[in-house]
Amino acid sequence: MAMAAQGLVSSAVVSSSLSSSFTHVDSGKNVSFLSSFSPAVAHCNGKNSRRNSSQRTKVVRCDVETKERQCYATQVKRNPNFAKLQAGYLFPEIGRRRAAHCAKYPDAKVISLGIGDTTEPIPSVITDGMKNKAHGLSTLEGYSGYGAEQGEGPLRAAIQKLYAKISPNTGVKPSEVFVSDGAKCDIARLQMMFGSDVTIAVQDPSYPAYVDSSVMIGQTGLYQAESQQYSKIRYMKCTPENDFFPDLASTPRSDVIFFCSPNNPTGAAATRKQLEELVAYAKRNGSIIVYDAAYSIYITDDSRPKTIYEIPGAREVAIEISSFSKFAGFTGVRLGWTVVPEELMYADGSPLGEPFPVIKDFNRVMTTSFNGASNIAQAGGLACLSDEGWKAMEELVGFYRENVDILVSALNSVGLRTYGGENAPYVWVHFPGESSWDVFSKILEKAHIVTTPGSGFGPGGEGFVRISAFGHRENILEAAERLKKLFA
Ligand SMILES: Cc1ncc(COP(=O)(O)O)c(C=O)c1O
Repeated sequence: MAMAAQGLVSSAVVSSSLSSSFTHVDSGKNVSFLSSFSPAVAHCNGKNSRRNSSQRTKVVRCDVETKERQCYATQVKRNPNFAKLQAGYLFPEIGRRRAAHCAKYPDAKVISLGIGDTTEPIPSVITDGMKNKAHGLSTLEGYSGYGAEQGEGPLRAAIQKLYAKISPNTGVKPSEVFVSDGAKCDIARLQMMFGSDVTIAVQDPSYPAYVDSSVMIGQTGLYQAESQQYSKIRYMKCTPENDFFPDLASTPRSDVIFFCSPNNPTGAAATRKQLEELVAYAKRNGSIIVYDAAYSIYITDDSRPKTIYEIPGAREVAIEISSFSKFAGFTGVRLGWTVVPEELMYADGSPLGEPFPVIKDFNRVMTTSFNGASNIAQAGGLACLSDEGWKAMEELVGFYRENVDILVSALNSVGLRTYGGENAPYVWVHFPGESSWDVFSKILEKAHIVTTPGSGFGPGGEGFVRISAFGHRENILEAAERLKKLFA
């Protein structure tokens, strides 16, 4: 085990199990220490280390949850922003609870209406596009390597056409469309661009990636257990009382406002008037809106905009992210896009300290940290946006809408109050006065159905659970029956 490299000031290789010893390696010498063992946590952070200056070595106490594990500690300090994050990302936590449930009830048929992953096959008119592209890669004429980091021209043009079809006034140009490997990845890239000095506002509840990426990049203070909020983030309450639209008049200014419509998790889609208010608010305050339209295809009510660019003036204040994930079942294929209008400007940044186009920085982010979406996925995206592909996607979305109807009528039939669903694949179920995690546990324990606790999306989600309508029909029907029985 002689692995002490020259220049390695302190290193330790630790083998630990309940009765194991630490094997300390320095200059080829093995020294053993008794370990202490904590079954719940894995800390390999050298917290309890002590340095033997004569040997220039470090003893690392390594608490691990697994029985047998090698642990080596570098001298690199952990990014303190990561220590602020609470209990892991919501969905891994749900996954852990689901796994524990399955271990407890190995024979139970667990139905997952939690994470919001699509379940139905991608229409073949779309996979044919990918298949042809993939086969083409085996030919001299069809082969292509790296593509443009911003996306292939025909797909950027097709996305621009989609905007033009929604409304002739969106003004989106192909050069403003950045094709990516998904909206979540773009959220992180946007945060990288904004940096740690901006302040952000989020709807409360909201999709967790906005808050967690903000914490990671260092925009926030510590988590406040009492309020269940990170300091420096503005949480804009969205409840049935305010029609799931924040009271902007009482919301102090933030640099960046993350706004998702149709909303995950509440399922609420903002009206035109509400979005006009949002754009006017951003303009008054000199803020940038990051508008997440990942579910826009689920909008059935024509009075609710499908893109923020339907609102006059939005081009000066809004970036829009979107995705093929929930449009076409591309959650595994990975394809999305971000629109950054040319008119969107930072306050400063030019050599003379004058306004600077945001699109230039986002282009720099994409060309530095991304090497273009998969060309096969992009062929799939192009197929999605063909006339036939669009028809097939609408059918797919229509199937999930029927699932929503089944779930909503079951829940309403036993007196439960539901929101959302009409313009989104999510049903937001109200359990006034109850804890979301308690309701989550009750539904899992008694009905073997995985949902998502509303409080996982922010303190404003307390008292709600989100039920996803992504599921095979027989599972949705069975879940509806189980829920009726449970709450009858
Ligand atoms: C609001 C919202 N934005 C973005 C995403 C992520 O989309 P993608 O799969 O394109 O990364 C999701 C996924 O659930 C979402 O709910």
